Amino acid sequence: MKILLIGGSGYIGTVVSKFFTDKNNVVHILDNFIYENKNHLKPFYKHNNLIKILSNNLNKVLSNNYDLIVILSGLVGDPITKKYPSLSHQHNNLEIKNYLKIINTNFNKRLVFISTCSNYGLTDGTILLDENSKLCPLSLYAKEKVNIEKFILNNEWKFHYTILRFATAFGHSPRMRFDLTVNEFTKFFFLKMPFEVYDADTWRPYCHINDFARALEAILFANIKNISGQVFNVGSNENNFTKRSIVKKINKFFDYNLTTYKQKGSDKRNYKVDFSKINKLLNFKPKYSLSNGIEEIINNLKLNSYKDLNNNNLYGNYTINNS
Ligand SMILES: NC(=O)c1ccc[n+]([C@@H]2O[C@H](COP(=O)([O-])OP(=O)(O)OC[C@H]3O[C@@H](n4cnc5c(N)ncnc54)[C@H](O)[C@@H]3O)[C@@H](O)[C@H]2O)c1
Repeated sequence: MKILLIGGSGYIGTVVSKFFTDKNNVVHILDNFIYENKNHLKPFYKHNNLIKILSNNLNKVLSNNYDLIVILSGLVGDPITKKYPSLSHQHNNLEIKNYLKIINTNFNKRLVFISTCSNYGLTDGTILLDENSKLCPLSLYAKEKVNIEKFILNNEWKFHYTILRFATAFGHSPRMRFDLTVNEFTKFFFLKMPFEVYDADTWRPYCHINDFARALEAILFANIKNISGQVFNVGSNENNFTKRSIVKKINKFFDYNLTTYKQKGSDKRNYKVDFSKINKLLNFKPKYSLSNGIEEIINNLKLNSYKDLNNNNLYGNYTINNS
């Protein structure tokens, strides 16, 4: 199979590329490398003739006859979109719409737009939200995602589209992000750094990045009538956690705990998500638990896989190149 990953050089895209090329599929990456996030791919594509980095010209590359196109690109996360609101509108809205229009001229197979469970935003945390639940995007990041979802759902396309609302990711990636809750808390524990957790009892769903790759594989091979025009939450009901319970899980790997708790942080998100639709229609269930991901990150920290660990620009979405 031939797959095009737009935004494929990021935290999730890098793992998805490896997942598919390990299974002998061809992966092409189109990315504008807005962070210091190109070098991690070099050793990988030098030794693997199935992966290719493309120049940023979508019109040209569509002649490659892809089986699946995945749109992962954008400024990802609340802090970075708050810091760069106009660039965020450009990458998370205008450019995605532009990509979709170009793709529509010359592609009629499967397209996946990666959205987020952050679209659910704020609830009292007691009910499980499914794909038909009301969206309540709080941040600029989630508002742009909802806008693109509507743009896709309200227009006619030649391709078969699917919208995947990913849970919050965790796990090791060659392009690591330590600005994500599970990864960040694990790093603090490992480095014996005291840290404050805000609003420890708010809920959110989590999912290992390898499971996102598995979900994309499920889309690639699904019966088209089960995926065309569909929205799916991607994660598992068992992986809805509060931040306090994440700290407890990480603490099991260490004999100390330097965490303190504070109320009234700036991130108001509180939602539990239902993942039964993707399980019923596509028979998809995540394989990796939170503890699997924590252990994997600890092992990589022990192996010194993250050189220059305190360089935020290498390990998170903090500063955009040339901004
Ligand atoms: N990481 C999470 O917890 C999470 C959760 C839910 C949904 N998602 C979604 O998954 C996708 C990937 O997230 P990630 O964590 O890998 O983010 P990331 O920031 O690591 O990757 C985003 C990639 O997009 C590229 N990019 C930005 N603007 C671009 C543009 N206009 N054209 C081409 N490439 C561009 C960046 O250079 C980067 O490589 C995003 O759509 C995100 O909203 C992520």
